[in-house]
Amino acid sequence: MRGETKPDVCVIGLGYIGLPTAAIIARAGCAVHGVDVSQDVVDTINRGEIHIEEVDLDGLVQAVVQRGLLKASTQIRPADVFVIAVPTPFAKDGNHTPDTSYVMAAAEKVADVLKPGDTVILESTSPVGTTEVVRDTIAARRLDLALPGQCDGRADISLAYCPERVLPGRILEELTHNDRSIGGITPRCARKALAFYKRFVKGECVTTDARSAEMTKLVENAFRDVNIAFANELSMIADRQGLDVWEVIRLANRHPRVNILQPGPGVGGHCIAVDPWFIVHGAPEEAQIIRQARETNDAKMHHVLDQARQLIKAAPTEKVACLGLAFKANIDDFRESPARYIAASLAREFGDRVYIVEPYAVELPPEFKGTGARLVDIDTALEECAVLIPLVDHDVFKVIPAEERHDKVIYDTRGIWPDAA
Ligand SMILES: NC(=O)c1ccc[n+]([C@@H]2O[C@H](COP(=O)([O-])OP(=O)(O)OC[C@H]3O[C@@H](n4cnc5c(N)ncnc54)[C@H](O)[C@@H]3O)[C@@H](O)[C@H]2O)c1
Repeated sequence: MRGETKPDVCVIGLGYIGLPTAAIIARAGCAVHGVDVSQDVVDTINRGEIHIEEVDLDGLVQAVVQRGLLKASTQIRPADVFVIAVPTPFAKDGNHTPDTSYVMAAAEKVADVLKPGDTVILESTSPVGTTEVVRDTIAARRLDLALPGQCDGRADISLAYCPERVLPGRILEELTHNDRSIGGITPRCARKALAFYKRFVKGECVTTDARSAEMTKLVENAFRDVNIAFANELSMIADRQGLDVWEVIRLANRHPRVNILQPGPGVGGHCIAVDPWFIVHGAPEEAQIIRQARETNDAKMHHVLDQARQLIKAAPTEKVACLGLAFKANIDDFRESPARYIAASLAREFGDRVYIVEPYAVELPPEFKGTGARLVDIDTALEECAVLIPLVDHDVFKVIPAEERHDKVIYDTRGIWPDAA
């Protein structure tokens, strides 16, 4: 557009979500200032390098840094649009309470540099009402600004919630092409945020209010969790009744209106295993199925651990290969991973009999230290281990031909080798 001025953008939190988002906004021609509390992260990005594994992200970050469109620092600077993408983990109280302190710390930083006309967007997955608390946090520090939903006339700034629904490994593609929900504190805020996203999102952007957008994100992951819990419960029932769950699901899914998901060793990651608890926390009396699904998926992890233990005890002189530590296929992210928990528990119990194969790891996570377990490649595992326990459905495991595993004892927790059932 002729004469159009592009907004300066500040992205706070440069992790799995913030860095790709910053890079895509920079690719759209906006000057982006990235802020992170980690000096390492900042230095890496300013060298045009990346600290996370994500398809095609290295080339894009290198390009936008070289063109001077993306710069990182630990200090916030004035901008026209602020995007907050910091973590929202559980509090350390053991009750799955959402910890929004990172978001509020970021909101305070933003408050200090805000000027009338600016837009603040929260992207972190958040409990319902968090965007309003961000507004209140800003209000407490900036008595000079009229804030949306708190003033009669036109507010000085706009504030919106816009969640991410990207799949690791496809983040750049999905950031651009997925539809997005954009929830404003007021309809005017939503329109301001919409105009910003239209600069780099090709998917449909649907506006709503902030609380509905917050809940939409949580509901999406709770829906997945409940459906996986159904498959996981079936798998435990099938184990008790001596049935092949994969066969039962395959057959049931031939019904035109049935689509059962695949069971696994539990549910991991920082989204599906976490976000449903944010709903439970907000409505503990009502969120019965959602809570039960979380508990069922956690129970499945312990069920797999018990089954694996029995198998290993039944072959007392053999070496065992646990295949995979990541929380899902073909990624390097081991956070909240049931595979990692199961493998580490087996390593603690069976020591140097346990081999770990994880092509996305350069070393074993800290909890394996002193157990005697070793990180090996898949060829070593196939040569030396009589028991194979696939815990993650990485493509490199799926393609192991039947003749290379015909003499193995196999506990296929992901159903990656249908011929072995
Ligand atoms: N990773 C995903 O696939 C995904 C998908 C959808 C939503 N989300 C949500 O997006 C949010 C961010 O997740 P992520 O995976 O990018 O996290 P991450 O841990 O990869 O990155 C967060 C970054 O924020 C930085 N940080 C923490 N506090 C800060 C502060 N006060 N100021 C500046 N930087 C700060 C950290 O150093 C880190 O680099 C979370 O709410 C998460 O639930 C993540």
